[in-house]
Amino acid sequence: MSNTIGIDKIAFYTPDYYVDMVELAEARGIDPNKYTIGLQQDLMAVIPVWEDIVTMGANAAQQIIDDADRSLIDQVIFATESSFDYSKSAATYIHRLLDIQPQAASFEVKQACYAGTAGLMMAVNYVRLNPNRRALVITSDIARYGLESSGEPTQGAGAVAMIISNQPRILAIEEETFKYSTEHYDFWRPSHSPVALVDGHFSNELYMDSFVKVFQDAEEAMGRRLATISAFVFHLPYTKMAKKALDALSEAETQLDEKKRSSQIAHWQDQLPAAIEYGRRIGNTYTAALYISFISMLKENETLKAGDRIGLFSYGSGAVSELFFGELVEGYSGQLAETIGLEELANRQQISVAEYEQLFTERDQMDTTNASFDIPETYQGFYLREIDENRRYYDFK
Ligand code: CAA
Repeated sequence: MSNTIGIDKIAFYTPDYYVDMVELAEARGIDPNKYTIGLQQDLMAVIPVWEDIVTMGANAAQQIIDDADRSLIDQVIFATESSFDYSKSAATYIHRLLDIQPQAASFEVKQACYAGTAGLMMAVNYVRLNPNRRALVITSDIARYGLESSGEPTQGAGAVAMIISNQPRILAIEEETFKYSTEHYDFWRPSHSPVALVDGHFSNELYMDSFVKVFQDAEEAMGRRLATISAFVFHLPYTKMAKKALDALSEAETQLDEKKRSSQIAHWQDQLPAAIEYGRRIGNTYTAALYISFISMLKENETLKAGDRIGLFSYGSGAVSELFFGELVEGYSGQLAETIGLEELANRQQISVAEYEQLFTERDQMDTTNASFDIPETYQGFYLREIDENRRYYDFK
């Protein structure tokens, strides 16, 4: 594996609070099946005001980074669409909070939920040119559409941290990837708006069309090799989106004859439950959602093994997509032991719909110039201690 580049370590973080989707549906006068079956969402992560994209990213990275990484990482790439500053990147805080050596570049990248993949590809190409160095990629977001909006059941919050190296112990990423850009307003977040704006049904359509397009390009380039893909993971704005994307593929023209195509797609559909386990309990995390799904699949799918090829579909509204592939490396499951999983997700604290609404409104009304926060005794991890004259100060406990 010495000539390969890819994901050496990966971990995710999501805040400690969640709201139950059945309770949310009942509070909104909606049939709960719409959320739990129609969108395939069971729980939704809720972020308190003393956490933000920086603390979530640092809490994800803290689980995997060691002293060797600290001295070898010289690219800190932060992908988000929940940025709180036009100029100073969230990566600068991460660089300091994680004590990464100073001769590093730290910066933020943006293109909706695709930004995480843009960051990952930059990191991979950087390590290809600098094989003795490592890169840290953080994807961190707070998905917000507004109370009682149609996007409300597709909110959430979370982050993923990945360390990229030339001796990856999880996924060796293949060089050939398939990209697609097309300019549209399906989902966007104007600078003045605390919530995203969305043309929901159009965004679903554009997502599916984009997946079909890059799949067809991959098929043209790879031919039969595409049939050797063991499983696909998808960007998950809500977890049913993965099934919808594969359904769209069944309707599209591909090179396979109908019988082969439907058995192939049925196989990929069968792999989805493991890949959506965590997303069902967290909700949308924008840039992090694809990579939380990737972790979910690796940790919860017991049929996968080293040598299997995985397809990863990244979609960012506006709209940019990329389909890429990687091979699972021998010993990958041991390498994932560090990151949190189903047990930790089950140990979070459930809050009522009223408490969720209060936290949502508090964030909207928060004084972002000067503020200090009461952190619960039980909280562990990085947190936002105060904002003083527009300067954010973080601590760890
Ligand atoms: N029982 C079971 N299923 C039910 C049901 C019930 N009682 N009622 C409705 N459903 C099903 C519907 O049939 C539908 O399923 P299909 O899509 O498979 O047909 C599903 O539940 C949702 O129903 P609607 O389409 O009627 O729901 P809606 O009009 O409220 O909109 C939404 C849903 C478009 C996802 C909306 O929540 C939204 O706008 N979310 C934000 C945008 C989004 O997530 N877009 C996804 C693609 S864009 C992207 O990926 C980038 C990103 O991260 C934002």
